[in-house]
Amino acid sequence: MKVRYQTGFGNEFATEAVDGALPVGRNSPQKAPLGLYAEQFSGTAFTVPRDHNKRTWTYRIRPSVMHKPFELYSSGTQTSLFRSSPFDEVITTPNQLRWDPLPIPTEPTDLIDGITTIAGNGDLFSQAGIAIHIYAFNKGMGDRYFYNADGEMLFVPEKGRVGFLTELGTIQAGPGEIVCIPRGLKFKVEPHPDDAELRGYICENYGSHFKLPDLGPIGANGLANPRDFETPVAWFEDREGAFEQIAIFGGNLWTCEIDHSPLDVVAWHGNYAPYKYDLRRFNTIGSISFDHPDPSIFTVLTSPSGEAGVANCDFVIFPDRWLVAEDTFRPPWYHRNVMSEYMGLIYGAYDAKEEGFVPGGGSLHNQMSAHGPDLDAFEKASNASLEPQKLSGTLAFMFESRYIIRPTKFAMETSELQHEYFEVWQRLKKNFST
Ligand code: FE2
Repeated sequence: MKVRYQTGFGNEFATEAVDGALPVGRNSPQKAPLGLYAEQFSGTAFTVPRDHNKRTWTYRIRPSVMHKPFELYSSGTQTSLFRSSPFDEVITTPNQLRWDPLPIPTEPTDLIDGITTIAGNGDLFSQAGIAIHIYAFNKGMGDRYFYNADGEMLFVPEKGRVGFLTELGTIQAGPGEIVCIPRGLKFKVEPHPDDAELRGYICENYGSHFKLPDLGPIGANGLANPRDFETPVAWFEDREGAFEQIAIFGGNLWTCEIDHSPLDVVAWHGNYAPYKYDLRRFNTIGSISFDHPDPSIFTVLTSPSGEAGVANCDFVIFPDRWLVAEDTFRPPWYHRNVMSEYMGLIYGAYDAKEEGFVPGGGSLHNQMSAHGPDLDAFEKASNASLEPQKLSGTLAFMFESRYIIRPTKFAMETSELQHEYFEVWQRLKKNFST
């Protein structure tokens, strides 16, 4: 299938898969074109200020309400997925945590059964906080459709190319790209035919929608430029059969029967829609004199909280870039942060760690938990000749949150947890002398 996109971040898009399917001049004509049903899909309260308002009008074969009642879903295989309150299962430790990659299932497993919850915070019932999941699967969803009522889902593929078939069109994305699926949007996921193993990260955002950060003195351009975000054109399937619709609602998975594909939107217009972004298009900005700025300069998307400048979640990347700062310790410095930091690695090596932090793995440095370069990284950077240096073939990222990020019981008990992680700093030498 040829995938086509419209460009821009949060634009008022308009698209139709069949000529004449999109009404002109009104949202809800007495009879919608082509016998379609008009249905509004609201991502914000009706009454938020105009520049925050997100909604999309869909013109679909059947209204979304046509499905059988939901029942609780249980696959019997999942280890830690979307329980009501997974973040108070165990006491949250201040220790620095790091994990090896989770294995990719050997049994046939689709996205729904291949998601493991690692950590989270806030309260989904209050629309605050995030959950952090790892997905690992090897087969498509087929006749299963899915939506998340609790939050938008930011997918960060690490292995394998993923096809997202959504109500509003199709998206393809692989490692180095991200996909944001809005809260409530129905979709299913299929692997690229050539990719047998798929893995990556998900930030499930219970708070306000991810948006582009303000640029302040940077000016009108830079970081993630709006034109590089891509939203699909209308696409639909007209299928009937014995299908399953799965939802996350209130922290639990629910399932119901549906006798047709819910991906039946023939035309739509609005600004509440999925998008993808190629992280390699990020216009990375850094120091050209000395020191390096705070990593907030690498923010791709931000989910604001109610307090100015304090994020419910920032999505931050550490991409290819030149290091040119003079008389400067160039890797991330040692620090303690009121914000809590979960990091993952998509490919390459991260410049603050010589080993142990690998693609598909993760680390968690919580509120005020000290961290920084390991011994080898410190020694190397402290003694390096400060010629211009290109960091190439590397892409790490961070989900940074104002709320303490609480690991799940699974995350604390899995054999992938690196119990010896603290040791990377224990051999740092006392260099002080008077
Ligand atoms: Fe940090």
